[in-house]
Amino acid sequence: MFGRREFIRHSAVGAGALLLGRSTPFAGASDSGAADSRIEVLLGEPLGTISPDIYGHFTEHLGGVIYDGIWVGPNSKVPNVDGIRKELVDHMRKIKAPVVRYPGGCFADSYDWKDGVGPVDKRPQRSNFWGDIEPPSSPASHKYEPNQFGTNEFVHFCKLIGSQPYLASNVRSLSAEDFYRWVEYCNSPAGSTTLAEMRAASGYSEPYHVRFWGVGNESWGCGGNFTPQEYAVEFRRFTTWVPRFGENLAFIASGPNDDNWDWTRGFLEEIVRKGPDQLRSIYGLALHYYAWNLSRGRTRDWDEGKGDALKFDAVDWYELLREGQVMESLINGHWQVMGEIDKRHQVKLVIDEWGPWYRPGSEQTSGNILEQTPTLRDAVFSGITLDIFHQHPEKIAMANCAQLINCLNSLYLAHEDKFCITPVGHVFDMYSAHQGGQSLRTMFSAPSVHYDRDGKAASFWGLKGSASVHDKDLVLTVVNPHVSEPRETEIAIRGASIQSGAATVLTHSDIRAHNSLDHKDAVQPQTKALEIKGRSLTYAFAPASVTKLALRLG
Ligand code: AHR
Repeated sequence: MFGRREFIRHSAVGAGALLLGRSTPFAGASDSGAADSRIEVLLGEPLGTISPDIYGHFTEHLGGVIYDGIWVGPNSKVPNVDGIRKELVDHMRKIKAPVVRYPGGCFADSYDWKDGVGPVDKRPQRSNFWGDIEPPSSPASHKYEPNQFGTNEFVHFCKLIGSQPYLASNVRSLSAEDFYRWVEYCNSPAGSTTLAEMRAASGYSEPYHVRFWGVGNESWGCGGNFTPQEYAVEFRRFTTWVPRFGENLAFIASGPNDDNWDWTRGFLEEIVRKGPDQLRSIYGLALHYYAWNLSRGRTRDWDEGKGDALKFDAVDWYELLREGQVMESLINGHWQVMGEIDKRHQVKLVIDEWGPWYRPGSEQTSGNILEQTPTLRDAVFSGITLDIFHQHPEKIAMANCAQLINCLNSLYLAHEDKFCITPVGHVFDMYSAHQGGQSLRTMFSAPSVHYDRDGKAASFWGLKGSASVHDKDLVLTVVNPHVSEPRETEIAIRGASIQSGAATVLTHSDIRAHNSLDHKDAVQPQTKALEIKGRSLTYAFAPASVTKLALRLG
């Protein structure tokens, strides 16, 4: 057993080069005594409660997300609940989805919520923000918004899956009054306003109690092309008086892209120019971060730099994971800048778009723009990202994976009556056990991965993850990024003994493995009971894997 000081010394030491050939497809509990890695979970060092809201989702009127993904219509032969795909509802209940963001994305700043309410057959057909880049093969509903799915249908979807709605308002092309009226439509009590009557006429007399409101989206770009100072003025104007109807409204400001520290600083400085009390009007600052540049340093061009979702080698695997690890420096960096102005850290981060973004070509359904097929690599990326979120519970109020279905880092893919869970969906299912747990300081020590990056030596960390506890139940999630080597690991829980446990492992002998509409089960998690001997546990983490250890403590 390693003491803490010795452990820290080992954490800093990387081991020699590892080969990229694959040896062990599924590892597990082990007592070979050859552990080269250590994990130490410190029960006495809680970091804060893991907000369930970091397990949020994002849905946009874009490609196949809404039409065909979520909404099949009440007359469809696809099993549905009031027009909403039933299989999706069932799975989202299982993963305990806490919050869903809607209707965009860039779409939000060209959307008039009034088009999407009232009698369905009277709703107008409009151009869609994304219409100009739709290929000829995409269905008409993607290019021209039919408004069959709007606020009522979205809130109904949220109710069915047990989620809170998070609505993004239009700052670029509608007024502050339109925003207030949307709040009034959603939240005014039954019988109180004309808009409450209108809601009731659609069958929803009770208010929706929408708490989370985004004030624009990517206001530095598609959401209005504002400077941070200009946007701060708009934010103040939009949020200065909003009808509350007894709700504790939470306004989320459009925040920075990637490492745009100037946006964070410029926005907050302008906000407090009217006094520090103004900070109280901001629940969260939305950070967007997509991992897209797999060019290995060759370019920063958005189109040229992207990689392929399905065709990649071990180096591309590590490159994506490195891009994923950047999330942690963005959280720390923006938090530091926020603290220069918001000294008491009243404003939290809301990471309401995250995930990998590849070039087109891996769509399961031709014509679904921005649809890509997630592989085991994206599952590992998602595990790394969620583990990072767990380690910063005091900073992150919410996060929303982009996007839920048929788009980017999808948890699910669907077309007509076909549906599958992607490896990313399996990670959300496995990790849901962390929701509401107390995050614990956890130390990892493992030999680094070394690889050849176009003739230059490169390395990546060897083992990482996170731990949380609810009463006597401890959840430890761990990523082994090595494409071919298992990591034999000694695990110590400081402050308790392990009574029993089970391991759930998501891996595959092919790092490109994925599920598709025709082969739904290629990548599946496997669960096995653990044999516990003594106070610590030795476990071999499979190569290219995400593992959850669910441990019952004594
Ligand atoms: O998720 C796709 C798009 O990415 C969103 O509409 C936008 O906010 C971001 O640029």
